[in-house]
Amino acid sequence: MQPIAIIPRPEVVTPTGGTFAFDPRTVIVADEHCGTTARLLRDRLRPATGLGFPIVRAEPDAGGSIILEIDSAIAPSGYAIDVSSSGARLRGGDDAGLFYATQTFLQLCPPSVFRKMPVSGVTWGVPAVTISDSPRFGWRGMLIDVSRHFFGRDAIFKLLDALALHRLNVLHLHLTDDQGWRIQIRRYPLLTEVGSWRARSAMDRPDMRPAGRQPEYDHAPHDGYFTQDDLREIVAYAAERFITVLPEIDLPGHSQAAIAAYPQLGNTDEKLPVWTDWGINTHVLNVDDSTIEFYQNVLDEVLEIFPSEFIHIGGDECPKEEWRASPSAQARMKELGLRDEDELQSWLTGSFAKFLSQRGRRLVGWDEILEGGLPADATVMSWRGVEGGIAAAEAAHDVVMAPDPETYLYHRQTDDPDSEPMGAEPSVPLTTVYDYDPMPEGLSPEAQNRVLGAQCQMWTEFLSSERQMHQMAFPRMSAFAEAVWRRDRGLFADFEERLVVHRERLHALGIDGYERIGC
Ligand code: ACM
Repeated sequence: MQPIAIIPRPEVVTPTGGTFAFDPRTVIVADEHCGTTARLLRDRLRPATGLGFPIVRAEPDAGGSIILEIDSAIAPSGYAIDVSSSGARLRGGDDAGLFYATQTFLQLCPPSVFRKMPVSGVTWGVPAVTISDSPRFGWRGMLIDVSRHFFGRDAIFKLLDALALHRLNVLHLHLTDDQGWRIQIRRYPLLTEVGSWRARSAMDRPDMRPAGRQPEYDHAPHDGYFTQDDLREIVAYAAERFITVLPEIDLPGHSQAAIAAYPQLGNTDEKLPVWTDWGINTHVLNVDDSTIEFYQNVLDEVLEIFPSEFIHIGGDECPKEEWRASPSAQARMKELGLRDEDELQSWLTGSFAKFLSQRGRRLVGWDEILEGGLPADATVMSWRGVEGGIAAAEAAHDVVMAPDPETYLYHRQTDDPDSEPMGAEPSVPLTTVYDYDPMPEGLSPEAQNRVLGAQCQMWTEFLSSERQMHQMAFPRMSAFAEAVWRRDRGLFADFEERLVVHRERLHALGIDGYERIGC
């Protein structure tokens, strides 16, 4: 039996000696209520072990069962596991907690349990142990940017498997940006017909380029988008794993792909292509009624697909030059009595907050939405460090922490540029992510209650393949999962030891490519 090496590390793990060995008589005992989690556990245990793990309602007299049950004495999302040589009992405080118990149980198994075909030479079973555990934060997320580079459904399913393994529960899908629109909208087909395709991509980082120098481009068009059926499938797959998919439609900045498809959304007569460079773009949406209505129609279709309570409307990096030069934006400001363009963006955010709340949803946006005043029920995702999050939490807004650089996995992880895909500066090594504490210092107790949790961000400007994305995301995502789940800190050496086994799990899941990166 390999050492117990669970990531994220549970609160209490007490080995009790002995082993529960799996054999053809081993069954999963679950009532109807626990059916989906039982099926997922069975389907995960079957292929590599070659054993059947039938799901039964009552425990056989002979024992040797994996019993799944809900125990309301355990905290929500918490769980307990008791393994003895005669069987295993997995109890969840609620359905999510029971699912997390199964994910931890799978990490008690040999790592090759995650392979898709029978593995020989492995003694299948788990060590006798008692575990009790619960998460520190309710929002434990990861953002994947499918706009800058598109990764298809299978990559997302694999990522969802990885999130489940790490007991993360939010997948933030960054679906639209200057460089690509990746969600089918029935009412506006050009969003994907035009907006999901760009002719080429800049190959360098804008900050590496001497001033005035044009980017160097690759010679490959880049395209792709999710149909609404694809997204429904992703949402359903995630939901079975207690993961909420948070869709982001970024506005009013980061919108050039939409403007390329529907030029009437922009501020000038210039015919804009889907953007082929990276960085902050001065072309943004106009604030005409027709544009607001357009995006409300887009959001109506988004709401049909995504049951998430929160809907992300971006709000980041919206340069105001075009609004300053636009007679219609200036007329809008005058009509509304607004002092400046920040207040204009704030007004726009407020109109979408109202639109969403009328439909029973809540707006979340990047911390720029604080500028010019924040709508009362808006939630802030703090990315420009933690200050925005602190200010919002102290002003009684809910907050999700997502600070750059600690949670930005598109930063390089070493100081050796030859050892990994191109990443942003400065480097963010594994230890930095591991040491990250989502609760900022100095918050009042009331404000602390406003911190829903945190997420790590996988921006993909510089990552053109799923393999490169994995090279940057892992194993730092594993360190992040530990940072957002656990209350105790400072156990990096212990984490590194567990990571040796965990890398085998990730490899068996088809997540690899990072082994040679020096972190
Ligand atoms: C962001 O990184 N612009 C949210």
